[in-house]
Amino acid sequence: MKYHNYLEIILDNINEGIHIVDETGMTVVYNQKMAELENMEKSTVLGKNLLKVFPSLTAESSTLLQTLKSGRVIRDNQQEYLNKYGQKITTISTTIPIYLENGTIWALEIARDITKIKELYHRIVSLQERLYTDNQSERGFYTFADIRGEDEKLKKVIKYAEQAAQTDSSILIIGDTGTGKELFAQSIHSSSKRRKQPFIAQNCAALPENLLEGILFGTRKGGFTGAVNRKGLFEQADGGTLLLDEINSISPALQAKLLRVLQEGLLRPVGGENDLKVDVRIIATSNTPPLEAIKKGNLREDLYYRLAVVSLYLPMLSERKGDIIRLAEYFIAKYNQKLKLAVAGLSPGVKKLFLDYSWPGNVRQLQHTIEGAMNIIGDEQIIREEHIIPFLIELENDNEQGVRGEEAILVDHNREKLSLPERLNQIEKSIIKDTLKKTGGNVTIAAQELGLRRQSLQYRIDKYNIARK
Ligand SMILES: Nc1ncnc2c1ncn2[C@@H]1O[C@H](COP(=O)(O)OP(=O)(O)OP(=O)(O)O)[C@@H](O)[C@H]1O
Ligand SMILES: [Mg+2]
Repeated sequence: MKYHNYLEIILDNINEGIHIVDETGMTVVYNQKMAELENMEKSTVLGKNLLKVFPSLTAESSTLLQTLKSGRVIRDNQQEYLNKYGQKITTISTTIPIYLENGTIWALEIARDITKIKELYHRIVSLQERLYTDNQSERGFYTFADIRGEDEKLKKVIKYAEQAAQTDSSILIIGDTGTGKELFAQSIHSSSKRRKQPFIAQNCAALPENLLEGILFGTRKGGFTGAVNRKGLFEQADGGTLLLDEINSISPALQAKLLRVLQEGLLRPVGGENDLKVDVRIIATSNTPPLEAIKKGNLREDLYYRLAVVSLYLPMLSERKGDIIRLAEYFIAKYNQKLKLAVAGLSPGVKKLFLDYSWPGNVRQLQHTIEGAMNIIGDEQIIREEHIIPFLIELENDNEQGVRGEEAILVDHNREKLSLPERLNQIEKSIIKDTLKKTGGNVTIAAQELGLRRQSLQYRIDKYNIARK
C-alpha cells in the first residue's frame, strides 16, 4: 500500500475533522469526518477553491483563509453548521499555518464535534436552574397554542393530545426528526394537572447505556467505581413528567427496568439496596415506527404496549404541504421580532421551491432555513432563492440521487489525489445513482439495465449508501 493510502485511511477514521488548503486557498486534504460535520461531499470540496465551494464564506470570515493570510493560529473557535437534517452541529476548531520548505504557507483546520457535549452541558445547567426555581410554572414551556398548523391530520393529533393531557396515562409520540415531538410533550405537560411540577427531558440515544441507567434511576455510593449518592431523573421528576426521547435506542435490559417503573412505580438506583416509589408521568418518543422497532428487536413488545396507551403519530411536513407556507410566515414573524427586521414574506420562486422540497428535517429544518435566510438578507424585504440556496439546494443534492453525477466524474479526473480503485468506485456510484434516477428507484429494472443481478446491485446501493426514491 502506498504511503498516501495509509494516511487517507487514518484521516478518514479519526473523530476529528481535518481540512487543509494550499497557498491559493484550494483544498488539498478533506477527511470524512469534516465532510460529515459540514454536510458536504468530499468530492465536492477536494481540489476546489474554498470560496467557490462555500459561497457563504468570505476571505474575512473563513478561519482557514485568515490563517493563510496572517500566518497566525486561531484556537478553539466555535462554529455552527446545519447537517443534512437541518440540525445544528456545533464544532470547536483550531486553525494553524503549515510552513512548507519552499517558503509557501498552507493552513490546517482541525474540528471537533461538540454538539453532544454542548447539549449535555446545557441540560445540566438548565436542570440546576430548574432545581433552584421555586415557581415552576414560570419556566415557559411550550403550550398547545405554540403548535402551528391547519392540516386536518395535525389538528386531529392535537385534539387527541389535549384530551390525553388530562390523564396520567403514558404517551408514545412517534414522528420523524423535527416534526414536533418535544413541542407536543411540553404542551401536554403544561396543560396537565402536573404543570406546576417538574418537566424533565432525556435523550436516551445521547448517552452510553451504563451512564443512562445511573442518570435515570440515580446512583448509590459504591454502585460502581467512583459512584456517589445522586438522585436520578425519575426522582427529580417526581410528581411531574419525564420525557424519554428515542426510547428505541436503549437496551432491552434497561427497557425491562423501565417497564417495572411504569407498572409498579418502583425503581432501584444503581448500586442501591432498596426500591424507591415514584409518581412520574412518562412520555416517550420514537423516530421509527414502533412495530418496525419491535421486529428489529430494538423495542420490547411488553414495554411498547405499556407505553402506547396513547400513541400520537406526528405527520411529516411533506405530508401536510398546506402548512409549509403558513409555518414559514410564522417563523418570519418570529425572527422579525428577534432580529429586529421587517421581512414581508417569500418570493413566488421560493414558495414554489418550498412546496416541491422534501423537507427531510421537517419543521425544524424549515425554521432553520428561514432563520439562516434572515441572517443574510440584509435590508431586503422579500426572501428570494439566493437567500435560501445555501441552506436548501445543498441538502437536496445530498439526499436525492445523482444530481452531480457527471460533475463528480469530471472532478475526479482532475484529481490525482485519489487512487484508481477510489476513482472507479466514484464512477460506479454515479452510474448507479443515474440509473436509479431513470428507473424511479426501481432496483429490479435498474439491475437489468446495468446487466447485474438484483442482489449485487442492492449490495452496491448499500455499500455506497445511495438513497433510492
Ligand atoms: N407545528 C409546529 N408549529 C410550530 N413550531 C413547530 C411545530 N412543529 C415543530 N416546531 C418547531 O420545530 C422545532 C423542532 O421541534 P421538536 O424539537 O419538537 O422536534 P422533535 O420531533 O422533537 O425532533 P427530534 O426527533 O429531532 O428531537 C422546534 O423549534 C419546534 O418549536
Ligand atoms: Mg426531540
